[in-house]
Amino acid sequence: MEKRAAILGSGHYLPSRVVTNHDLAALFETSDEWIVQRSGIKERRFIERSGIGASDLAVPAAKMAVEQAGRELKDVDAILFATLSPDVNFPGSGCLLGDKLGLPGVPALDVRNQCSGFIYSLSVADAWVRAGVYRNVLIVGAEVHSTGLEFTDRGRDVAVLFGDGAGAVLVGEAHGDAGVRAIELHADGVGARDLWTEAPASMYTPRLTPEMFEEGRHYPRMNGKQVFRWATEKMPEVALSVLGRSGMTIAEVDLFVPHQANMRINQMVAARLGIAEDRVVHNIQRYGNTTAATIPIGISESWREGKIQPGSRVLMAAFGAGFTWAGAVAVF
Ligand code: UT7
Repeated sequence: MEKRAAILGSGHYLPSRVVTNHDLAALFETSDEWIVQRSGIKERRFIERSGIGASDLAVPAAKMAVEQAGRELKDVDAILFATLSPDVNFPGSGCLLGDKLGLPGVPALDVRNQCSGFIYSLSVADAWVRAGVYRNVLIVGAEVHSTGLEFTDRGRDVAVLFGDGAGAVLVGEAHGDAGVRAIELHADGVGARDLWTEAPASMYTPRLTPEMFEEGRHYPRMNGKQVFRWATEKMPEVALSVLGRSGMTIAEVDLFVPHQANMRINQMVAARLGIAEDRVVHNIQRYGNTTAATIPIGISESWREGKIQPGSRVLMAAFGAGFTWAGAVAVF
């Protein structure tokens, strides 16, 4: 029988500092009412102090995932680190995480696919395990957004949406009925400028000028309406397509774990899929958009709440910067 890869364990970590919409309203012109109505977000977590990077948030999440999988850290033979907010420009956060976990020599690959980064990573881990390249692949999605947002009226449309956090899974050889059943990945650079952080940029000399700094081109900028339109079209499309590849129907899905960018997007996607609200994971109210971390955090919390059990059929879908979008179906 062909070898299959499965998600064997999961973990998550959120910094302790809770930042409410009211806290943000003290910094710039916004309100709890606007943020909740437009996005569903009530609060998010920010790192407690300067000096904490994505790889630091990843450490407890990774340990939790390895433990739930019944493995030890020394069993991890490859790391995939999905992030758009690496600790430093280079080297990748995967190398930093490997060092912090005490895994010298273990290969570490950073995946730069933003909100779709976790599903892209799952695709790589799935292929590695099935091909027998690596046995236990640690995937982490981790972000520190709070140090890179513009907390002013100019940046308020983006600043209210994002939070810090980390999620992780351990992928290894499947047993019984468990396993990743289908994955589908997409990208279209036509939307690159609709959601991006432009500078510092290696295509400019110098990479960052005082003028660019003044204009705030080192902050994330988003054409919210355009991203919203694409997300509500592409997420249901990729979810239904990957489901078709897996040979399952929506009625057979026990849990839908969508990327958490906006509660309204996920409600529209769920309605288009025709999936009942009680089978859809929402945690954006508490954490905001943690980008590459949203899906593994959703899996880890759901597993611990008993919403994921042995045999559970889980559908995932994501849309984000790039544009990139992706879907996956896995049996736990
Ligand atoms: O994971 C990455 C993918 N990202 C996404 O999927 C995000 C997709 N986009 C969205 O979720 C929505 O477009 C937003 C939540 C970002 C914005 O919602 P919207 O309904 O599209 O609002 P808008 O951009 O049309 O803004 C409406 C108004 C504007 O004022 P005027 O021009 O109508 O007077 C904005 O200036 O709201 C204003 N506004 C704010 N007001 C209070 C923008 N940001 C804020 C704010 N607080 N934080």
